[in-house]
Amino acid sequence: MNANSPHARDIAYLVHQQTDLATYQQEGGVLMAKGDGVYVTDEHGRRYLEAMAGLWCASLGFSEKRLADAAYKQLLELPYYHTFFAKGHLPSVDLAEQLIRLAPVPMSKVLFQCSGSEANDTAIKLVWYYHNAIGKPEKRKIIGRVRGYHGNTVASVSVSGQPHMVADFNLPLPGFFHTENPNYYRFSEPGESEADFATRMAQALEDLILREGPETVGAFFAEPVQGGGGAITPPETYWEKIQAVLRKYDVLFVADEVICGFGRTGHMWGCQTYNLKPDMISCAKALSAAYQPISALLIGEKVHQAMLDESRKLGIFGHGYTYGAHPVACAVALETLAIYAERDIVGHVQRVSPAFLNGLAALESHPLVGNARGVGLIAGVELMADKASRTPFDPKQKVGVLVQDKCLEQGLIVRAIGDRIAFTPPLIITEAQIGEMLGMFHAGLDAAWAALQGA
Ligand SMILES: Cc1ncc(COP(=O)(O)O)c(C=O)c1O
Repeated sequence: MNANSPHARDIAYLVHQQTDLATYQQEGGVLMAKGDGVYVTDEHGRRYLEAMAGLWCASLGFSEKRLADAAYKQLLELPYYHTFFAKGHLPSVDLAEQLIRLAPVPMSKVLFQCSGSEANDTAIKLVWYYHNAIGKPEKRKIIGRVRGYHGNTVASVSVSGQPHMVADFNLPLPGFFHTENPNYYRFSEPGESEADFATRMAQALEDLILREGPETVGAFFAEPVQGGGGAITPPETYWEKIQAVLRKYDVLFVADEVICGFGRTGHMWGCQTYNLKPDMISCAKALSAAYQPISALLIGEKVHQAMLDESRKLGIFGHGYTYGAHPVACAVALETLAIYAERDIVGHVQRVSPAFLNGLAALESHPLVGNARGVGLIAGVELMADKASRTPFDPKQKVGVLVQDKCLEQGLIVRAIGDRIAFTPPLIITEAQIGEMLGMFHAGLDAAWAALQGA
């Protein structure tokens, strides 16, 4: 390899995130050079259909000029200002107002950060702040779910339930606990209905709260549809039963809408799809169609009142980020929301979703596919060694990665999460492009199956 080639310099200088670094030193990876609608092109000119919208985020695809124009205009007008020390700027005010108007349940205030991780990190701090303010400082334990994903800061990865992201980082922090994973297909008992499984999941949460002591449990964090866990949709009645437990023990509920927010599930919010009533909502990704790093934490009145009380007591709300509410990111997010409304993106998702979900479900007849489920434009496909007995592959076989690689050879980017293949294409995907995506996926599955038979 030429030492000056992009690949050689990449290997020489860059640390890739969520990557096997030792293998990367030998093999390198793919460098993207251009975007065009739902497609991206690498620096060798190879084009791929991006069925993950990058990291579940490029909702308007990879070439929306209006967002570039919005950024440029704001860069010329006011390229930077902050919201510290009683100062601010109009784009952040406009965006906060819009988010409060759009919120799925009444929310009082918006606090901006640069990433989903920071939004959840902030929410964890506010759970502690709130309970200190109301005189219950011992109510500080935080519950997430096995295989939940809420980010990679020290606290947000602690509430996530991703073993490989805490291993040898001396995490999770003390005081973080995880309740069961609601993957009905994988973890239901033979003959157990979805409703019975959901009852068992809610019971497991209640048992955990009782074991830890309800007076010590401050909050529960969850994604309406679990993304990083493998695009896992909740079983029937799950959310009503989980929320009843949270209400019973006065546990705050933080809905992580970082993936689900802004149309992904066929409604503006996952909270609307599943009738969730959270105390706080974190969102990011599709908030700016991923063209700028920005996240928002929507804060309900109960928590906001506590923030006011603490601020009166301490003289300051002692929290903030230099780039939180960055005006360029706010301007891009405002334009993103305008495009969603003008193009009826939520309606579009509802219209194309049946082609997406039915097309994937039809692949359950493929010898590798045990189950394919989703909602709106998010879905997970579970690969199985033996479908009849629901026996998974040996993880050492890395069958998920094999399918992911075979799809890449077809020109399709999907994501293997263990042996689940996740799909979250840009929300602008057309029915014809869904057909193309399914065709490439089928070919990728066939190629993986052939490789396994030959092995
Ligand atoms: C549900 C969820 N929450 C939080 C995050 C973290 O967001 P970020 O990577 O912007 O910090 C992610 C990232 O994928 C996510 O899927």
